[in-house]
Amino acid sequence: MESIIWHNNSLKILDQTKLPLQKEYVLCKNHKDVINAINTMQVRGAPAIGVAAAFGIVLGSNELDTDNIKEIKNHLQKIKENLKNTRPTAVNLFWALKRMEHLWKNNNYNNVQMLKKELENEAVKIFEEDIRLNRLIGKNGFNLIPQNANILTYCNTGALATAGFGTALGIIRMAKKNNKKILVYACETRPLLQGARLTVTELMDEGIEVKLITDNMAGYLMKQKKVDLVIVGADRICSNGDVANKIGTYSLAVLAKHHKIPFYVAAPNSTIDYNLGNGEDIVIEERNPEEIRSIFNNRIVKEEVRVYNPAFDVTPNNLIDAIITDKGILRFPYNNSINNIRKE
Ligand code: MRU
Repeated sequence: MESIIWHNNSLKILDQTKLPLQKEYVLCKNHKDVINAINTMQVRGAPAIGVAAAFGIVLGSNELDTDNIKEIKNHLQKIKENLKNTRPTAVNLFWALKRMEHLWKNNNYNNVQMLKKELENEAVKIFEEDIRLNRLIGKNGFNLIPQNANILTYCNTGALATAGFGTALGIIRMAKKNNKKILVYACETRPLLQGARLTVTELMDEGIEVKLITDNMAGYLMKQKKVDLVIVGADRICSNGDVANKIGTYSLAVLAKHHKIPFYVAAPNSTIDYNLGNGEDIVIEERNPEEIRSIFNNRIVKEEVRVYNPAFDVTPNNLIDAIITDKGILRFPYNNSINNIRKE
């Protein structure tokens, strides 16, 4: 399944809100369509949001019919700010936009057409790079998965959450390719059920054995010794190794620690926010209360029920056994290991 398709100057996004019941692509004609796709989570998952935003800039560059380079640069700057204001937690969005911005800020383009072409080239590069990095994460991480492992995972970190292949799910994929016999327990991941709707679908499509559990079953499974390791993705990794990921990740890390089960995080280096010292400063997105009041648009509680809906939480570095990146496996103390890969 391809989350994002760029072809002949047009962007198609797989509407993940409808999966797995319907497989529909939405055509994004301009940057506003991309903003809408990110806000409504038609495209979601940290790396995929970054890639979509990069193409949002490309579409935005075609919105003005002008030869005036100043005019186009001002327009791009505004679009960039609007794309930035979609989802605050995953750092890949800001990382990708910064890369795009670099082209109109630090290069002396005085030809509009040339700048537009370079923007497209850069977005395609970000897309292709993401797939390449995910494959490296898979290669670096699959040896951490023992033969006959029972793996617990959370949310969706697969091809759908990225430009392709996936991070934590990429490692699982790579383990299967290398003849490891594995069983994956996928937590459903309330409120939006990315685990149930997306992860289970991806794994079943690949012929990887998977069992769906509700989020509140994880502790019981661990107590029963049914889980050998936990592996999740990340939306932002601080320079000290604190990790923001889908709400519920922190609870799994605490449970894993209590049961002495390895807890791994997998992410590309574009998810590392080298400027953020620790997780306390990560902005946690709060989403629409209706996401909790309803399941698949069917309200399950009274309309007036008050709700708290943080979309992410932060897992402190001391609960994480390793962070698997495209640049290698990072271990505690993360300040050192993260700093080392920054220098590469
Ligand atoms: O709200 P979402 O669905 O965008 O959240 C996604 C996650 O939390 C993923 O675990 C994370 O982005 C890593 S995806 C490779």
